Amino acid sequence: MSFSINTVAVVGLGLIGGSWIKALRQTYPDWHVIGFDRNQDSMVKAHSLGIIDSYEGSVDNVVKNADLVILSVPILACREILSLIRPYLKPDAILTDVGSVKGCVADDIRAVFGQDQANFVLGHPIAGSEKSGIQAANESLFQNHKVIITPLPSTSLSAVEFISSLWEVVGAKVEIMDVAHHDEVLAATSHLPHLLAYSLVDTLAHNHENKEIFNYAAGGFRDFTRIAASSPKMWHDIFTANKTAVLDALDLFAHDLSQLREAVANSDSTTMMGVFTRAKVARDHFSKILARRAYVEPMKNQQINYIANPGGCVTGTFRVPGDKSISHRSIMLGSLANGTTEVTGFLEGEDSLATLQAFRDMGVVIEGPHRGRVTIHGVGLHGLKRPPNTLYLGNSGTSMRLLAGLMAGQNFDVEMTGDESLSKRPMNRVANPLREMGAEIETSAEGRPPMLIKGSKPLKGITYTLPMASAQVKSCLLLSGLYADGKTIVTEPAPTRDHTERMLKGFGYKVQVDGDTVTVESGGELTATNIDVPSDISSATFFMVAASIALDSDITLEHVGINPTRIGIINILRLMGADLELLNEREVGGEPVADIRIRSAQLKGINIPEDQVPLAIDEFPAIFVAAACAEGTTVLTGAEELRVKESDRIQAMVDGLQVLGVDIKGTEDGAVIEGFGAKGAFGGGEIVTHHDHRIAMSFAVASLRASKPIKILDCANVATSFPSFIELSQSSGMNVTVE
Ligand code: S3P
Repeated sequence: MSFSINTVAVVGLGLIGGSWIKALRQTYPDWHVIGFDRNQDSMVKAHSLGIIDSYEGSVDNVVKNADLVILSVPILACREILSLIRPYLKPDAILTDVGSVKGCVADDIRAVFGQDQANFVLGHPIAGSEKSGIQAANESLFQNHKVIITPLPSTSLSAVEFISSLWEVVGAKVEIMDVAHHDEVLAATSHLPHLLAYSLVDTLAHNHENKEIFNYAAGGFRDFTRIAASSPKMWHDIFTANKTAVLDALDLFAHDLSQLREAVANSDSTTMMGVFTRAKVARDHFSKILARRAYVEPMKNQQINYIANPGGCVTGTFRVPGDKSISHRSIMLGSLANGTTEVTGFLEGEDSLATLQAFRDMGVVIEGPHRGRVTIHGVGLHGLKRPPNTLYLGNSGTSMRLLAGLMAGQNFDVEMTGDESLSKRPMNRVANPLREMGAEIETSAEGRPPMLIKGSKPLKGITYTLPMASAQVKSCLLLSGLYADGKTIVTEPAPTRDHTERMLKGFGYKVQVDGDTVTVESGGELTATNIDVPSDISSATFFMVAASIALDSDITLEHVGINPTRIGIINILRLMGADLELLNEREVGGEPVADIRIRSAQLKGINIPEDQVPLAIDEFPAIFVAAACAEGTTVLTGAEELRVKESDRIQAMVDGLQVLGVDIKGTEDGAVIEGFGAKGAFGGGEIVTHHDHRIAMSFAVASLRASKPIKILDCANVATSFPSFIELSQSSGMNVTVE
């Protein structure tokens, strides 16, 4: 059924109804709009502003010819108005309202029309202003605002679609919701804040020192209480109409407020910091949503492309951000420790922040990060709480796989999800051995996320040989071993990063390492410690390759972690003939660290030793760029794991390098790259990154040896591991900009 509208009746000429019809008239100038309001002045004003064409003193005359009736009256007046107009409505007229509470209007419809009112569409625009009245009507009021439509079982789909279209033409975004759910959500997000604002201002105004208070009231007072200037009558009606849901929200708030009062009274800093840091993060997140910037939202929503202009060299002495693997583990182990752990050099990238947020969601009080400093108030191995929602882990495979091990040992159920890339990554490599230990885990088809991990399943230690060299799987099993009966013994086919083992020891937990086998046993405790996170050798890699391939380059990267299980990149670049020196080697908090100086050198192609592959597993996109600039052929084998990283990194690099004119062939477990050598250069072109941070950064580096600009698509995920990449690239001499 389609609706043909000639005459529109607007019953109630206030801010919302007035603004909507004002905006609609821009699209539908031929509509004849008649208005009604109990207040004669409002009708006269609406007419003089051209919002309505005419008005009538009695509501029956207004609706009798109307094809569309917009009800914009105080909530509690709805039933009376509906009874008055019902006898005069055209049989096929379509009706809608804009009230802030839906349950009571649904009751009114049933009371007045019986069950079968197919043409009444309940709606609620989430927009407004503390200003009220027709004189404040503003045709842009709904642009980019949400409108919630709450169909009843009797509402016709065509009527819902038609009213939705009338909201969409004025720039609003329509969402469909159940009536009861709408009233609960709005009680918490809108009605409760208004109640608190009214109450606070009233309390302060009653105080005998109110003059003082208002004289000195600054931003905090203004920000918190702006909405107390809203229409008292309207809000009286809303609280009356949505009594049950408002009281539920108020009771929950009163409970939390009294706990906060206790914390203040007892100088309980941990509880206070817990409330304040959780609230700050949530508010910052909300601001980012408002500004349409991603935080833990799927980052694909952000469209960031790089333009990498050809030429240049890199010089200088600088520090790249903290190690991602160690940052993740610092949050996990710090949260499970007894006592307070101080972290410095924490990577403030989206991946490690996803881990941090997950632990906050499980009740851990975490202060920061502020300039790489994080303070974690550990809750002990058995102190985590059930998170209120699904844990959203963004792009981060490390978060999901390590957490899977920990979550298997908890006494609550947890669901974990991630973005599009993480949702395609294999989780059976952790789910299967965890099931052998006794865990109950559900995944999507083929072991993909989401992962649902059931709580309170007793775990028993197993002896497990990893089918692939994976630090994530090893770490997952060691962490679940903290909760398993007996010993958990993990053997790896080749050495992989050993941060979990080192850090567990750093937290005072007994870990036995015998060659390729690691053993943990439950029953111990973690004791808080301080962690100084070294710079990430995986991020440093982009600059090591940059300095090697660009003539006249000379850089020193400070404080880089050179854990022996991570130095594949150093070994491989040296085999290729790189000019690379380790300076000032030292140990910081159980991890070896050095400053790395790299100068330009003509690289040569090599057969990459397979034993170096797990030690450089994240570095291959950049190594491919180095190999393309080398003299001769580079052959990579034994690296099939690259196909299941944030993207299929073999395919992504082969495709991208071919666009730039490189002679490269992918194989099942690696690639064969013919280097163009001293006289050659990359061409230009457009690179598809598949939203993979390391693919994006590798092609930015390639521009140093390009003859034409390279456009690199979808680079937002660089923020997962290296949020300052663009600034550091530019300040060191690369010509990379955000489009
Ligand atoms: C990581 C291990 C590696 C690595 C990832 C981080 C870790 O993954 O690629 O970026 O922190 O344990 P795999 O263990 O799957 O090889």
